[in-house]
Amino acid sequence: MTQPLRLGIAGLGTVGSGVVRIVQTHAALIAARAGREVVITAVSARDRTRNRDVDISAYAWEADPVALARRADVDVVVEVMGGHEGPAKNTTEAAIAAGKDVASANKALLAIHGQALAEAAEAAGRVIRFEAAVAGGIPVIKALTEGLAGNEISRVLGVMNGTCNYILTRMESAGLPYDTVFEEARALGYLEADPMLDVGGIDAGHKLALLAAIAFGTRVAFDGVELEGIGAITIEDITQAADMGYRIKLLGVAQMTGRGLEQRMSPCLVPATSPLGQLQGGTNMVVLEGDSVGQIVLRGPGAGSGPTASAVMSDVIDIARGLRLPTFGQPATTLRAAKPARAAVPAPYYLRLQLLDKPGALAKVARVLGDSAISIDRMRQYGHEDTTAPVLIVTHKTTRSALDEALATFAQTGVVAGTPVAIRIEAV
Ligand code: HSE
Repeated sequence: MTQPLRLGIAGLGTVGSGVVRIVQTHAALIAARAGREVVITAVSARDRTRNRDVDISAYAWEADPVALARRADVDVVVEVMGGHEGPAKNTTEAAIAAGKDVASANKALLAIHGQALAEAAEAAGRVIRFEAAVAGGIPVIKALTEGLAGNEISRVLGVMNGTCNYILTRMESAGLPYDTVFEEARALGYLEADPMLDVGGIDAGHKLALLAAIAFGTRVAFDGVELEGIGAITIEDITQAADMGYRIKLLGVAQMTGRGLEQRMSPCLVPATSPLGQLQGGTNMVVLEGDSVGQIVLRGPGAGSGPTASAVMSDVIDIARGLRLPTFGQPATTLRAAKPARAAVPAPYYLRLQLLDKPGALAKVARVLGDSAISIDRMRQYGHEDTTAPVLIVTHKTTRSALDEALATFAQTGVVAGTPVAIRIEAV
């Protein structure tokens, strides 16, 4: 049998411990599948004395992950520390410079520095794999890079942040406001140390940018992702959207348009009966659309020790097998710089307005929409709450610029109270 593949694990939090557990419990199975043993030689973490539920006493300890990356007895550096600067970046760069391959769970690092890291790795004949960085245990990188390699991809979309999906589905099922459920999520330990990574859409935006690079052969461009989080979603939006047959999801959508690459991470309405509409709790779902395959839907756990470590081990076993793919599925130097296109594809929108109880109020609103060439598909008015009544409008497809024009004009009608809510409806 060939020499064992030797891992150095940088980071022993939830994911790192999960990787140690799989290597320890499935040694024979991994060796059979990879054709060689996979062993851990060294580990590194911030605190050596912390109580961990895995035994790391057999492994060399490095206080400095960069030193771990340079060790002669490490072939693959498993970077599961997180963070897009500092130790994670230094360790990945040191690993490449020292001739090691890298298996990473670090979406932020790759979304921001992925192009430079991929070029450096490929110039050095090394690989960087990152299955664990997108949608946890769902093998979506493999699906795009390998399973769908013969397709021209038209659209990638999905729910890629379990915490946001938990918050939105819990708001609906318990009828609770955003702030209450946000605090529940915090108490349950679901939120990242910086909650804006979750509820601001940043974490999911990193994942979308990585998928877009593979799907469209473009340089990863996180700064081209339009980001809008879920902090402004109210329980009224959720219940009234449900009344119209929709659910609100923090949806990532990437598609190549005639005007450039559109990448959006924002709350969207999807039909309640669609697979995305049915997605409950912290689960992730990624939908991939290709010219030959049509549409495929991948669903599974997007976070947690077992699922994320499962994805890391898929990369490690590929490396052990000798499978050496470019980071983004094609050589990094051949990736194109895509022009960012904001909301290039027209869509129907859901509007929620508080309408004053005045004669002709509805007619004025309809006129504003008509003047912006926006056609109404469906409309519902609820009973008056004091002096105003909520009105829900579902439009036919329109452009974001026409909609913005109409939203700005509503304020001049004298019949719309407060700020109207407008949420895109995504066809899924
Ligand atoms: N915080 C993420 C989520 C997991 O809630 O899905 C790590 O990306």
